[in-house]
Amino acid sequence: MNTFLNTIFILSTIIISSSSSSTEQQETFIIHVSKSQKPSTFSTHHDWYTSILSHPTKILYTYTHASHGFSARLTASQVDTLRDTPGIISILLDRPRQLHTTRTPHFLGLADTFGLWPNSNYADDIIIGVLDTGIWPEHKSFKDDGLESVALPSKWKGVCETGPDFEACNGKIIGARAFYKGYEASTGLIDETKESKSPRDTEGHGTHTASTAAGSTVKNAGFYQYADGEARGMATKARIAVYKICWGAGCFDSDILAAMDQAVADGVDVISLSVGTSGYAPQYDDDSIAIGAFGAMQKGVVVSCSAGNSGPGPYTATNIAPWIATIGASTLDREFPADVVLGDGRVFGGVSLYSGNDTIDHLFPLVYAADCGSRYCYTGKLDESKVAGKIVVCDRGGNARVEKGSAVKISGGVGMILANTEESGEELIADSHLVPALEVGQIAGDKIRNYVKSQQSPTAKIIFRGTVIGASPSAPRVAAFSSRGPNYRTPEILKPDIIAPGVNILAGWTGFTSPTDLVIDPRRVEFNIISGTSMSCPHVSGLAGLLRKAYPKWNPAAIKSALMTTTYNLDNTGKNITDLATGAKSTPFIHGAGHVDPNRALDPGLVYDIEVSDYIAFLCSIGYNARRISVFTKDQASVDCKTTSLKRPGDLNYPSFAVVFQSNGDVVSYKRVVKNVGSSVNAVYEATLKGPSSVEIDVLPKKLVFSAENQSLSYVIMFTSKVAGITDSVLAEFGSIEWSDGVHVVRSPIAFTWGHIYVSSM
Ligand SMILES: *[C@@H]1O[C@H](CO)[C@@H](O)[C@H](O)[C@H]1NC(C)=O
Ligand SMILES: *[C@@H]1O[C@H](CO)[C@@H](O)[C@H](O)[C@H]1NC(C)=O
Ligand SMILES: *[C@@H]1O[C@H](CO)[C@@H](O)[C@H](O)[C@H]1NC(C)=O
Repeated sequence: MNTFLNTIFILSTIIISSSSSSTEQQETFIIHVSKSQKPSTFSTHHDWYTSILSHPTKILYTYTHASHGFSARLTASQVDTLRDTPGIISILLDRPRQLHTTRTPHFLGLADTFGLWPNSNYADDIIIGVLDTGIWPEHKSFKDDGLESVALPSKWKGVCETGPDFEACNGKIIGARAFYKGYEASTGLIDETKESKSPRDTEGHGTHTASTAAGSTVKNAGFYQYADGEARGMATKARIAVYKICWGAGCFDSDILAAMDQAVADGVDVISLSVGTSGYAPQYDDDSIAIGAFGAMQKGVVVSCSAGNSGPGPYTATNIAPWIATIGASTLDREFPADVVLGDGRVFGGVSLYSGNDTIDHLFPLVYAADCGSRYCYTGKLDESKVAGKIVVCDRGGNARVEKGSAVKISGGVGMILANTEESGEELIADSHLVPALEVGQIAGDKIRNYVKSQQSPTAKIIFRGTVIGASPSAPRVAAFSSRGPNYRTPEILKPDIIAPGVNILAGWTGFTSPTDLVIDPRRVEFNIISGTSMSCPHVSGLAGLLRKAYPKWNPAAIKSALMTTTYNLDNTGKNITDLATGAKSTPFIHGAGHVDPNRALDPGLVYDIEVSDYIAFLCSIGYNARRISVFTKDQASVDCKTTSLKRPGDLNYPSFAVVFQSNGDVVSYKRVVKNVGSSVNAVYEATLKGPSSVEIDVLPKKLVFSAENQSLSYVIMFTSKVAGITDSVLAEFGSIEWSDGVHVVRSPIAFTWGHIYVSSM
């Protein structure tokens, strides 16, 4: 057999080298290879890959831990040849991804005296791998805090790539690497005057996410006069391993996969990845993040990813593979209010992080940007003669919010009202604009736009009110930008999984660029306030690190289950959490299981466990054949879907439910197994079911009697659609199942849709 294979390889080598001498264009591809099919004549997989390709094709990366294969520059005809080569599972074109902050510990209920922090010793010994734009190592959030004298975790095998621009790691940052081969192969050499080719963060995003996940305590942090107080990462004592994967023009799959591969080999406990596609989620086997995350999960690494900032439309959530924790973004109970006062005396509230010395607290002429050349206030598009000396109303959308303030400043405007439109609703994100400015919601925005239209000489002033903490407006509320379900690939798996703080988050920043990342902004700050699911993801990554320390034997699914079934759904005024896009009640398609509640996650009572083999059965259940699944298992020989037993994807032992009815009277039943992880082995749990009148829900048994012999028990939950005729009003309905022993409440949300008629309720 091997001889036969070798012949094929030699043959393909010849074909590939002859075709690569042509002038055909090369692109980067990621080639997944079956591990067991390496001919014995090659001593290493790398030698084998090199021989397949031959000169002059260059291998960018060899993947061995999170996935199996390599990436290389290839022409279309080389790819065709490779496709027919035994042992090649799949060939994926490399693609760029996009990057998708302190009150949060307090808001999350974390305390030094009780709960998850003391019970995990702040995740000391835990290593969080942050795959992002690198890190600013001199930042106070990464000061050593005595960690230098504590022995490194014995599992740690990583390195610190030092150089002139990144001199050393320390007890907090124990590893740092940069991955740019894929980036440079596709976009050309990195311009080192604009960004550092070392693990140093010259963007800001990576420093922000790393300090959120695992930053040390910094007293007197803040952004100018805003959000002052103590800044602290979730896993305050965890170590950080930095993997720089994002560069000026994006983050390439080949680099991301190489970083995931390395992070697993290095021995990280958690991978935090605030990166994803900006369109709909790709198929799992066409998604390098899903592939790498599977490999990481197999090795016990928790992978926490941002859901994306493409809300509020349906199906926008990315990073939706069931073995990933998919995190949406919500608000805190901290606001940075500002008021606009119109010439007629009306006052509208908004938010602002303006920190300059200019004041516009007396009336100035007011204009609408749509009347001045550019409703979105694009740079260079505003008519200076109409804007100079005035306050400008710019519409949200189109370009970056901070660019609008910059455009107004460049055109001589004195201030800006950034007014939301239908797309952003009442979602307010504070920015540190270069001119005095505030953002107002759509309702206020429409009134201000109408005022400008209807007046001869409209005027306005803006008053800034600093930082306000309190229950008005309510918190949390889900950000309009937070990407939503249903799950675009597998509607039977509810996504996103949970929400966590991601709006106006204060965390560390790079010393290289300004807080707006605008070149014309000369400011440099230690802390910055930014928003995105990129900010919510590292909160959960840090919390997962704390749980990993508290329960070293739990697998990633159990940790995720604990985080999901202990969430809350009511805000700090006792009402259901609302959606900032509509002001209406949020749903499980928007907030998943709900808002993360770390101290409760420490004692979930029951967990929904999932083994690697269950995920493989899941892939079989969605129609993947052995070849497609081997991208994840790394071996073509290892899977036989005939022997796996998941009837349908919804039977995966997931801690939430998504039910897709095919007809009005359809019946769907799902099986689940729950494991008692509470302190009492003899716990008795009883079910409480909640659902809409259009669905009958039954569970069997209704009581779970755990014992030393029966630590895991199963139940079947049955859903019967009672919809008489599908109307527009039946788009999606929601319910829940709660198991309680009187001490714990183990709650799973249930989402119902009918066939493929679900469309946005927006
Ligand atoms: C604002 O004023 C303070 C005190 O006068 C000064 O130190 C600071 O540099 C000024 N800031 C700007 C952005 O001009
Ligand atoms: C929240 O929503 C659920 C489900 O619709 C409803 O049963 C419950 O009464 C609501 N709770 C509050 C406090 O409004
Ligand atoms: C364990 O569960 C099985 C099936 O649910 C049941 O038949 C058995 O009696 C249980 N054992 C104990 C000790 O409760």
